[in-house]
Amino acid sequence: MPTTSTNRPLAFVTGASNGIGTEIARELATRGFDIIGTGRSASVDSVAERLRALGATVYPLHADLSTYDGVENLWKQVQEIGKPLDIAVLNAGISIGGSFATDTDLDDELELIALNINAVVHLAKRVAPGMLARGTGRILITSSISATTPTPYETVYGPSKAFGYSFAESLREELRGTGVTVTALLPGATDSDFHQRAGMGTTAIGKGRKNDKRLVAGQGVDALLAGKDHVVGGDRATRRTAFLNRFLPESFKARRQGAIARP
Ligand SMILES: NC(=O)c1ccc[n+]([C@@H]2O[C@H](COP(=O)([O-])OP(=O)(O)OC[C@H]3O[C@@H](n4cnc5c(N)ncnc54)[C@H](OP(=O)(O)O)[C@@H]3O)[C@@H](O)[C@H]2O)c1
Repeated sequence: MPTTSTNRPLAFVTGASNGIGTEIARELATRGFDIIGTGRSASVDSVAERLRALGATVYPLHADLSTYDGVENLWKQVQEIGKPLDIAVLNAGISIGGSFATDTDLDDELELIALNINAVVHLAKRVAPGMLARGTGRILITSSISATTPTPYETVYGPSKAFGYSFAESLREELRGTGVTVTALLPGATDSDFHQRAGMGTTAIGKGRKNDKRLVAGQGVDALLAGKDHVVGGDRATRRTAFLNRFLPESFKARRQGAIARP
């Protein structure tokens, strides 16, 4: 639970217990925000201790966001804190590697959709009306560079991230001129537990070069605070790939991606 009560602005970050989300929360704490950080595991408590050392008041909350009730219970706890959200970062997400036809499990894929799509819609539905009523707020949705290419051997993941990107741009337009902005963060491959957890540790992409998660988080927070529509997270090569993906045929990108994601 929080150690003090402050007048600092408040940021809500899902998936703050690990990887990019931890770094986004750290970046926001450094820039003067208090943090409601969520995680499925107990790591969210140790992350909270680290953020408190930066001077933030931190509310660590545990939630499984792959179920409707998990999201609703989390939202109830956020409301009990009794403070308006200045920022909401909808970041928690997973991938699943492997052949869709022969390897992967349908239940796992439906859980991915529930977390990467349903929970984003669900939380945005809870967050946006309050921000709109106050005429101020910033929402960041962690999509992926995978939104710009087919993703064979992560066949459900890429489409789930394409949803997040398009959802962010759509909601942003609806809210234009209201004081509430929506930004999509599209990281390239980034150094977190993400690929290992997806069962992709031995694939070329899993073993390949990764972007620094601090760089990616900093770029996301910069774009969020500037109210930009989206930002590609990563180094120059990552940004170049995302740019070229706009012009390349889907069939070409699918073959290229399949070659590095194949088990
Ligand atoms: N790393 C990459 O290469 C990469 C590239 C592009 C986009 N992204 C996106 O970046 C976001 C963060 O990924 P990451 O790289 O930081 O991965 P990560 O290190 O595996 O972290 C994922 C986060 O999501 C949380 N989470 C997972 N399942 C959950 C569930 N059912 N309910 C609630 N929280 C859950 C995890 O909580 P616990 O750890 O507590 O279980 C963790 O905080 C994801 O949306 C991902 O799609 C990542």
